[in-house]
Amino acid sequence: MIRNRPSLSDKLPTPVYRTNLGAAHLGNSLELLAAMPTESVDLVVTSPPFALLRQKIYGNKDQTEYVDWLCEFGVQVRRVLKESGSFVLDLGGAYQRGVPVRSLYQYRVLLKMCDEVGMFLAEEFFWHNPAKLPSPIEWVNKRKIRAKDSVNTVWWFSKSEWPKANVRNVLAPYSERMKTLLKNPAAFYKPKDRPSGHDISKGFGTDNGGAIPSNLLQIPNTESNSAYLRNCKLVALPGHPARFPAALPEFFIKFLTDVGDLVVDIFAGSNTTGRVCENHGRRWLAMELDPDYVVGSALRFMEHLPEAKVRETFEKLRTRTGRVPTDLSAPATLFDAPRVGVVGG
Ligand SMILES: C[S@@+](CC[C@H](N)C(=O)[O-])C[C@H]1O[C@@H](n2cnc3c(N)ncnc32)[C@H](O)[C@@H]1O
Repeated sequence: MIRNRPSLSDKLPTPVYRTNLGAAHLGNSLELLAAMPTESVDLVVTSPPFALLRQKIYGNKDQTEYVDWLCEFGVQVRRVLKESGSFVLDLGGAYQRGVPVRSLYQYRVLLKMCDEVGMFLAEEFFWHNPAKLPSPIEWVNKRKIRAKDSVNTVWWFSKSEWPKANVRNVLAPYSERMKTLLKNPAAFYKPKDRPSGHDISKGFGTDNGGAIPSNLLQIPNTESNSAYLRNCKLVALPGHPARFPAALPEFFIKFLTDVGDLVVDIFAGSNTTGRVCENHGRRWLAMELDPDYVVGSALRFMEHLPEAKVRETFEKLRTRTGRVPTDLSAPATLFDAPRVGVVGG
């Protein structure tokens, strides 16, 4: 069992709960980030609140307000990132109010993060969610003048031009055709120069364990029977309404960090990111403003507990001030004597 606690500034408040590898904090991430040491984080991966976006994005003034608001977090994120660190930001698209034309806010965020905050755009990714429902109903379903928007932009920013990255950690499965070819390359493919003049014969037919992934990530957002949702049901708590699928942060965590690295989600919601980190041996910090979401996110780490213990631990967390950490990685008996006040190594 890895017992490597995130080593952090004493200035961070006591988390609501912690696990073997991470800690979940309640509070405004702008303030929590400000309490963290400079150059201490390997990756920040997050999905900011779209609800705010829906309320505020319409009209130029509000749109500017949203972009400025988000970029303030960018300034702190850049400070806490190591030189080799990355900031991955998932942003859904939006229409302007009352007219079938798109908001440009994601692109304004991109430009401002690079032009003013000082980030680099390492690569733009696109998350295709084939399960996304058509919206807005007026343009897509009723008038049928726009297609379904099922792609989010995912900006991969870096603090320097040379962020840590290893695509070998995220190779995609080979296609059936490629698998057949790999069994006997000579029988299926006669290498010759491409019209472009490229000679692709060298290394062709070598099994590299998988294909280089593209920057189009196809991940359906259809979680319906996870341990998290089962535990939510058990304690009669609605699941977080805007979760991203675990496979999205998982791709970037494997791609951009090593085991033992520190990953932070500054808009953690149900703490999908922390759960993925725990599975992959990365240290993690979750920051979330809403106490119900923080307490609910603890349910992600209780799959090893019997139902009665899940209920009891949940109630204990909920009734607490939110300032006493509970070690969710420990055997159930430990909950009877929770470790208090210990965090950060
Ligand atoms: C889109 S949700 C994130 C969902 C998350 N990716 C998941 O899988 O559950 C955005 C979250 O940001 C939180 N939030 C908004 N402003 C915040 C702030 N200033 N500091 C911390 N969290 C904030 C909201 O309460 C919301 O839960």
